[in-house]
Amino acid sequence: GSLPRVFSGIQPSGNLHLGNYLGAIHTWVQEQNQYDNFFCIVDLHAITVPQDPAELRKNVRDLAALYLAAGISLEHATIFVQSHVPAHVELGWILNCQTPLGWLNRMTQFKDKSQKQETVAAGLMNYPTLMAADILLYDTQVVPVGDDQRQHIELTRDIAERFNHLYGETFVIPEALIRPVAARVMGLDDPTQKMSKSNKAANHSIPLLGDLKATRKAMMRAVTDSGSEIKFDETRPGVNNLLGIYQALTGKDKATIEAEFEGQGYGKLKGAVADVVIATLEPLQQRYNQLTADPAELDGILKRGAERAAEVANATLLRAYQQLGL
Ligand code: ADP
Ligand code: NA
Repeated sequence: GSLPRVFSGIQPSGNLHLGNYLGAIHTWVQEQNQYDNFFCIVDLHAITVPQDPAELRKNVRDLAALYLAAGISLEHATIFVQSHVPAHVELGWILNCQTPLGWLNRMTQFKDKSQKQETVAAGLMNYPTLMAADILLYDTQVVPVGDDQRQHIELTRDIAERFNHLYGETFVIPEALIRPVAARVMGLDDPTQKMSKSNKAANHSIPLLGDLKATRKAMMRAVTDSGSEIKFDETRPGVNNLLGIYQALTGKDKATIEAEFEGQGYGKLKGAVADVVIATLEPLQQRYNQLTADPAELDGILKRGAERAAEVANATLLRAYQQLGL
């Protein structure tokens, strides 16, 4: 078809949270009929830090179920596993050889993630070149991601432009799609830190597949501030975070929301946010439980997805090989 191409992915590292949902999956679902979409389960990225093999295998299938449960439709999207399409590793290596080390040294996510590891794998540093390969293989025009991925998409563009300049037109230059609302969901325990899978602090995260009573509790305990006005205001990150979540999930505009909460206390806001979060997660969890009950069906979807993805990816890989003289 002639619809613009979308590529995005999430690591099958378990514990997906509301940040992953609002920064990525929800945006994918909302816009899916405007694009020809490739949604990847990026298992090769997950192994840049240690993973338990049995858990990883389970997490891959579970993430496929989560994509579908959240509303990704196979009519608009190809869902597949990164390691099932070897072209990702092949182009990843090529781009690794084309990327100045200084560019990778500047990546803030590498700095953050490497500090949390006892032993830092070389793959953790090279992660962004594999991500560039993921995106470029599909002639991707649009990459819907959370705000924390902005720098990686910039790097992907730089790598593609440099390659095209040195070897001739090969890659489509992609653009990030980072929506203005809830692109960086913050931790409920500390609204100055982004909500993250690896942060295990109490009341930090809203897990997508967690117990919903616990979710309401965590929401009611969310750290705000000593003020009382309920306004979108970046200098009050706790309230701002809750309002952003509410806006993303209700689709209401800022003025409507501020009017709705005028004269109300923080307890009222937290309760309202908990209500919309739970109204989203309850049906998602029900669909997820149905889908995970049929692993053979999920495996079939992933097999067909990999076949379609490989067709597109192999054509791009061949172009890159030829340009390089390989
Ligand atoms: P994580 O960062 O939780 O390990 P991934 O690296 O797999 O997860 O990211 C998957 C997607 O979720 C990316 O598009 C990323 O930008 C988005 N994302 C992750 N954390 C957040 C957050 N706190 N707010 C908004 N989007 C987020
Ligand atoms: Na991330």
